[in-house]
Amino acid sequence: MSGTKREIVLGVGGGIAAYKACELLRRLQDLDFAITVVPTPSSLNFVGSATWEALSGRKVNSQVWQEVEKVKHVSLADQAEAIIIAPTTADLLARLVQGRADDLLTNVVSASAKPKFLVPAMHPQMWLNPTTQSNVQTLRSRGFAVLEPSTGRLTGDDSGIGRFPDTAEIITAFLDFIGANQDLSGRKILISAGGTREAIDPVRFIGNRSSGKQGLALAVEARNRGAQVTLVLANSNIADISGINIIRVETAEQMYNALQSQMLSSDVLIMAAAVSDARPASVAKDKIKKNELTNIALTSNMDILKELASGAKDSQIIVGFAAETTNIEASGVAKLASKNLDFIYVNDVSHGAIFASDESAGYLISADGESTYIAQTSKAKVAKYILDKVVSRLGYANG
Ligand code: CTP
Repeated sequence: MSGTKREIVLGVGGGIAAYKACELLRRLQDLDFAITVVPTPSSLNFVGSATWEALSGRKVNSQVWQEVEKVKHVSLADQAEAIIIAPTTADLLARLVQGRADDLLTNVVSASAKPKFLVPAMHPQMWLNPTTQSNVQTLRSRGFAVLEPSTGRLTGDDSGIGRFPDTAEIITAFLDFIGANQDLSGRKILISAGGTREAIDPVRFIGNRSSGKQGLALAVEARNRGAQVTLVLANSNIADISGINIIRVETAEQMYNALQSQMLSSDVLIMAAAVSDARPASVAKDKIKKNELTNIALTSNMDILKELASGAKDSQIIVGFAAETTNIEASGVAKLASKNLDFIYVNDVSHGAIFASDESAGYLISADGESTYIAQTSKAKVAKYILDKVVSRLGYANG
């Protein structure tokens, strides 16, 4: 389903976070970007050209004196739809403000009229230095996007603002800035994520280990592709995200009510949440004393997905999830049929838990009998595969 690849330049500055740009490169490739890496000469002290050439599959230059006949700074500036520089050092910020062109990357930046997205990472005192802050303001006023660094543990013993943000955060902000493929434009997508909790007493609950990461990846991907997204999120500490309507819930019943209220106006339901199959038959008003906590009577929860799918219109696309350790594909096919779904993604958890991980593997099965094995990959890429299927099915359902 991938269209023509989008060309970008990944500039890499000379900071220790250069190693994290390897992961960023990979995840951008997952999103079908074709990437030319342009490291600054000093960044090669941290990550060498061989690494960048192997990962990008392209020749890597850092000086204008390499491949001179190709006039690289002009051809790269023309061919890339955007430039992302990660990490951007204090020195690089200063050079960009001055319009210096003393290596290939700064030449490409000055020859390019395309969007430029900077990911600064440095020691807190360097970031907070008034000169650096003034350089950031100047660049922003000239149309550069400059991401705020994260706060946390740094390379040495100290901590503070200046960390290279999580890859997912960088990609979300970058896609926001440059605009992603808009094939879900005008569509309303309803997604559930996280794990529901069922109270036992005022302090205890029955819950599960779902992190909500897969549902979040779906929500972000759907938003980036132009959809109007509502995410019904159970018990996740994921922060609010611009462009996504998040409804926070705790129990299965609250999740059902939230989903049900949005269902009629949605084109697609994707049920990525781990819903508790049962809840305590009664919730104790006061905390149960430990010597009385010997057993808990349970009562079944509604199967939300089955219920919503059974009342869905023909034009609505319903996607379910499952987690299996044995007979993975066959179980998925059976579950898809029994819940009346258009697609199911069956997590293959036979090799360990997927919970809280950024990756997953499994089968993506459709109601028309097509089944694709997705080998271990990022949840962002799984989201993309699922939404590619949804897009083609929406075209068919409405064609
Ligand atoms: N689901 C739901 N309501 C429930 C339980 C599950 O909507 N009470 C949804 C989940 O969000 C998921 C799918 O149904 O999309 C999972 O189906 P389920 O039959 O629970 O499969 P597993 O979680 O794999 O568990 P099991 O095989 O033990 O039934």
